[in-house]
Amino acid sequence: MKIVHSVAELRQTLASAQRPAFVPTMGNLHEGHLSLIRQARPLGDVSVASIFVNRLQFLPHEDFDSYPRTWEADCAKLEAAGCDVLFAPREVDLYPEPQTFKVQPDPALADLLEGEFRPGFFTGVCTVVMKLFSAVFAGHAEGVSVFGKKDYQQLMVIQRMVQQFALPITVLGAETTRSEAGLALSSRNGYLSEAERAEALQLSLALRGLGREALAAAHALPQQREALEAAALGALKARGWAPDYLTVRRRSDLQAPQAGDPLVVLGAARLGSTRLIDNLEI
Ligand code: PAF
Repeated sequence: MKIVHSVAELRQTLASAQRPAFVPTMGNLHEGHLSLIRQARPLGDVSVASIFVNRLQFLPHEDFDSYPRTWEADCAKLEAAGCDVLFAPREVDLYPEPQTFKVQPDPALADLLEGEFRPGFFTGVCTVVMKLFSAVFAGHAEGVSVFGKKDYQQLMVIQRMVQQFALPITVLGAETTRSEAGLALSSRNGYLSEAERAEALQLSLALRGLGREALAAAHALPQQREALEAAALGALKARGWAPDYLTVRRRSDLQAPQAGDPLVVLGAARLGSTRLIDNLEI
């Protein structure tokens, strides 16, 4: 695996590639990330991963400084997963000057759910992903990038961004990798104590329960949705969680569903000091 830090080095390395296959990450890699790399590899003629903890997508009180940075282990895992090129820019490589131009995603999609509780998050994500796409794909007629469905809204925002800017990139969503018990893998799971890790499963169980009830009430869902959501939220609160949202939405645009819409159940909740998110297509 070739490791490069600057955009110029990356472009030189990829100069003869026809179709890069790219997985952006913030490092602290786990099996979920590696499965994205394995899925991306056969889709292009060179596989590229990036590791960059993007300051722009963290709010001032969030965990930018303490976000786990595990460089040696990450390199070994990427190498073993068959990644060809690792792009690991320093902050000065990606943001050589203050980033005053930003990519502002459609508020109808980006200001709800995660965007409501983490204002500016998707602006930070879109801005860095646009810069990473420009670094990886500039000069290539086509490319592919794989994102995890664990960050369901992020995947949708990036797909809309690529469509609206007509970037020649196919953005694919990969299924969430879970522990045997069903916990969605996340770098932030590392913050959990042993007892919290066992409790963390309750988020996916709550989503599954809410999903079941939403399907059972499918004909009356528009009227009953809020009551079902409030009950699920209350049950998680009673276990000591601080939930931000547990909600049933339509898959197409994450708005409130009408009868017959394909559905996704999404949730975000804090357990102790760790904020977890998960979702389930139903
Ligand atoms: O999902 C992530 O890890 C990040 O949001 C991403 C896409 C790498 C952008 O910093």
